[in-house]
Amino acid sequence: MKVTVFGIGYVGLVQAAVLSEVGHDVCCVDVDADRIESLKQGNIPIYEPGLAPLVRSNFEAGRITFTTSAEEGVNFGDFQFIAVGTPPDEDGSADLKYVLTVAHTIAEHMQSPKIIVDKSTVPVGTADKVAEVIASHLATRDSSLTFNVVSNPEFLKEGAAVSDCMRPDRIVVGVRPGDDADAIEDRFRELYAPFNRNRDRIIFMDARSAELTKYAANCMLATKVSFMNEMANIAEKVGADIEHVRHGIGSDERIGYHFIYPGCGYGGSCFPKDVQALGHTAEVIGYQPQLLQAVEAINNRQKQKLATYLETHFNNDLTGKTIALWGLSFKPKTDDMREAPSRVLMETLWAKGARVQAYDPEAMEECQRLYAEYCHSRDGGSPLSLMGTKEAALQNADALVICTEWQNFKAPDFDAIKAALKQPVIFDGRNLFDPERMRAKGFAYYGIGRGE
Ligand code: UGA
Repeated sequence: MKVTVFGIGYVGLVQAAVLSEVGHDVCCVDVDADRIESLKQGNIPIYEPGLAPLVRSNFEAGRITFTTSAEEGVNFGDFQFIAVGTPPDEDGSADLKYVLTVAHTIAEHMQSPKIIVDKSTVPVGTADKVAEVIASHLATRDSSLTFNVVSNPEFLKEGAAVSDCMRPDRIVVGVRPGDDADAIEDRFRELYAPFNRNRDRIIFMDARSAELTKYAANCMLATKVSFMNEMANIAEKVGADIEHVRHGIGSDERIGYHFIYPGCGYGGSCFPKDVQALGHTAEVIGYQPQLLQAVEAINNRQKQKLATYLETHFNNDLTGKTIALWGLSFKPKTDDMREAPSRVLMETLWAKGARVQAYDPEAMEECQRLYAEYCHSRDGGSPLSLMGTKEAALQNADALVICTEWQNFKAPDFDAIKAALKQPVIFDGRNLFDPERMRAKGFAYYGIGRGE
């Protein structure tokens, strides 16, 4: 089948790669000419395990093409995927300008019937808005071409995006009332057949429910994390260990062990944005989203947790301190630093006069891009030094802070850490180590929800 994907970011590129891998022909369209050119050269703009070889091999096989020409893209695919960004507006609502611009572009160039697929995370009602834009533009062209707009949200996780897309746990397809649901179902069953073997993963519903499903899933997951962070903060105050509590509650199948790890806050491009956006949608319709507001507030406070520990440890004086920081990305296996807890920590430390020596296995370039001005020397020592190894980050630092649970942080040489630091203190935002063992090794150790 022929598919066009508008917006070659995370969602668009991964989706295009896996659709081409199973044999569909995919045309990728993006307004960013540098990105398109770079992709044609085989350079993949994001770090995502397994993605680069997939894109390169399908490009060589001619199943995936890249263009900046919207007209070429519209003429190519029977399916027109919209996978452009929906950044938060000032009030937290999702900004639909890119989505609606693509809708307009499709209407402008289409010469045959199309199925337009909303892949981006978009507020409830967007499929209707996209349909309105297309219908009104076709009317100006005096065109009687038919089209359908379908909500088909993406549930991939960064760091596992390729495998999530290759082996989805569900494929949600939302059809607008009045559209021919049976015909659309047939087309989607054919498109996704390679991903739908063994058991039926395709869940058909109406478009509004599909749009809300996406937000509900992310908000539920964010709620689990904020709930655990709240429990961690209570555990700390009452002298309990949240890791024992996590173990204790996860064994209840209704709760489960997944996604109940306390930490220094959730980040990424999705949870913060989606919790806000759904909260905004609720407020617009006159419903007070108390739980969503609490989830967000708890997370914002949690992102300050490590800085608060540091201040307490250093008697409220971080001036002139050098902090070794392991982990910059918002989670392992990605170089993405959007809304990462490390950023809140670094910015707080700089405001308090401390400097940071940071290391991350993948996010160094991204950090350099985001904080270039902090890497230059200021009053003798730059606020941020990006170090080549995790060991180098420790040299002459006053403390070690861990923000991301990368695998190679999990069993470090503690003697070497002790020898490199000015004093043996670790602030562990991901509860990687056992507090008692750390104390036995002579470290002052701060975890999340485990007491000092
Ligand atoms: C999230 C969802 O998990 C995906 O299902 C969804 O498709 C995606 O958003 C999206 O909307 O595109 P992602 O942002 O890649 O995926 O990251 P997650 O793995 O969900 O992690 C989010 C944050 O929660 C991370 O900062 C992570 O460290 C934190 N987290 C996660 C915890 O603090 N504790 C946990 O137990 C789990």
